[in-house]
Amino acid sequence: MATAPTRAASPAALQLPLLAGHDLQVPLAGGELRPYVNLDYAASTPAMERVVDAVNAFLPWYASVHRGAGFPSQVSTRAHEAARHAIAGFVGARPSDHVVFVRNTTEALNLLASCLELAPGHVVLSTAVEHHANMLPWRRCAPVVALQPPPSPEALLEEVRAALEVSKRPVGVVSITGASNVTGEVFPIAEVARLAHEHGAKVVVDAAQLAPHRAIDMAASDVDCIALSGHKMYAPFGAGALVAPHAWLCDAEPMLAGGGAVSYVTLDDVSWAALPDRLEAGSPNVVGAVALATAATALQDVGLDRVAAHERELCAYLDERLRELPHVHPLRLWDGENVDRLGVCTFTVDGLDHALAAAVLSAEHGIGVRHGCFCAHPYIVHLLGIGDEESNRVRAALSRGEHHSIPGAVRASFGLGTTPEHIDRLVDALTEMTTQGPRLEYREDPETGDFTPVDDRRTFPAFDGLPDLDTTRTGVACGQF
Ligand SMILES: Cc1ncc(COP(=O)(O)O)c(C=O)c1O
Repeated sequence: MATAPTRAASPAALQLPLLAGHDLQVPLAGGELRPYVNLDYAASTPAMERVVDAVNAFLPWYASVHRGAGFPSQVSTRAHEAARHAIAGFVGARPSDHVVFVRNTTEALNLLASCLELAPGHVVLSTAVEHHANMLPWRRCAPVVALQPPPSPEALLEEVRAALEVSKRPVGVVSITGASNVTGEVFPIAEVARLAHEHGAKVVVDAAQLAPHRAIDMAASDVDCIALSGHKMYAPFGAGALVAPHAWLCDAEPMLAGGGAVSYVTLDDVSWAALPDRLEAGSPNVVGAVALATAATALQDVGLDRVAAHERELCAYLDERLRELPHVHPLRLWDGENVDRLGVCTFTVDGLDHALAAAVLSAEHGIGVRHGCFCAHPYIVHLLGIGDEESNRVRAALSRGEHHSIPGAVRASFGLGTTPEHIDRLVDALTEMTTQGPRLEYREDPETGDFTPVDDRRTFPAFDGLPDLDTTRTGVACGQF
């Protein structure tokens, strides 16, 4: 007799931090309210209540940073610098590393690629699994060698080793994700770092997904540089960080030129300031830095091992429940006991466009997921087994300015607020969808490929200061990226 799937413990039982909006009710297409099931943490997490409280406590003191003698300016400057220390501690940075505040991981990696000057003939080694943020900036810096998605962590290490040993051109930088935003596998960054260093290459880790879910210790893992985003770690106030060795950044030409980044300016010359100011031109986002630091401290207080344990239980529960659904197919890079996976599950549904499946989950069930290609086109193309012919057809249509839906998938992702009930609601919704089809009739937006119910009675909440847009249109261009 089959045993019932084991349910994971709830966040309350585990005493995980509360999140803003944890009791949010959202409208279904008919207008009735349902408690929201947020399964989109890998895109952006809600704010931790502790972060909101910290920001509210800080705001009365908010003033210019590094630019004022007034007491609130001094308070703000100290808060900004204290936030830098908190982030350095959170990632286990060495005394020789600098924390540079940026908007997000994309900016961090663009900034880094603009700072690094690779020796002539050197290449960047990466993988086809990467998010575009860890792919496109490097192309501006040097030729990129992208390893095909490896079938196991061991194969990844073998391929990295082989590429470092036999590459015709020397590898200057190995830049790799800490965890996949599409399939959730945690990458063996310490082992990659060891191999890279044995061959004289620098190691950069895109920690956008890793940072909110697993402890990072740059010193212990010998990772040279990491990039992360606050909005993925419960601090959605617009700050992220680049943490990199002093020697990599100290002589770099600033990506942004302006006030704050200089020590002296004449009409025909400029002396750039020392780090980190040199790379933080313009007034900094001190509120974002305070939020990011508070979130980092809160995650450390909870203990990232507890965060990971919560997610692993939920993952196991979802995996088990998805086996009940023959028409739902999870996409995986690696499987097996020795594979660590974040709370990310990307899947396809037989006979149902990914955009339609996501629209039905939202409009009929009050469940938020992401769909599309997750800013990882080469990886999704690989996972879905899309051949060159189809890929070329898509490219040709897009280059003619025509809409062409890019094949994609649906992603459910978890975080601190996820409960076993949320997983049950997802599985129930998918069961209904795959056995009875959508309850409602949907219309596809020919421009975006997104779907909305023909009869959609959802209305949007109003916010002070924001003009009232067309409140009946719920479809937004979000699916294909
Ligand atoms: C692995 C990974 N890297 C980089 C990014 C880019 O992050 P951001 O949009 O905050 O710049 C993301 C965002 O989804 C991601 O998942």
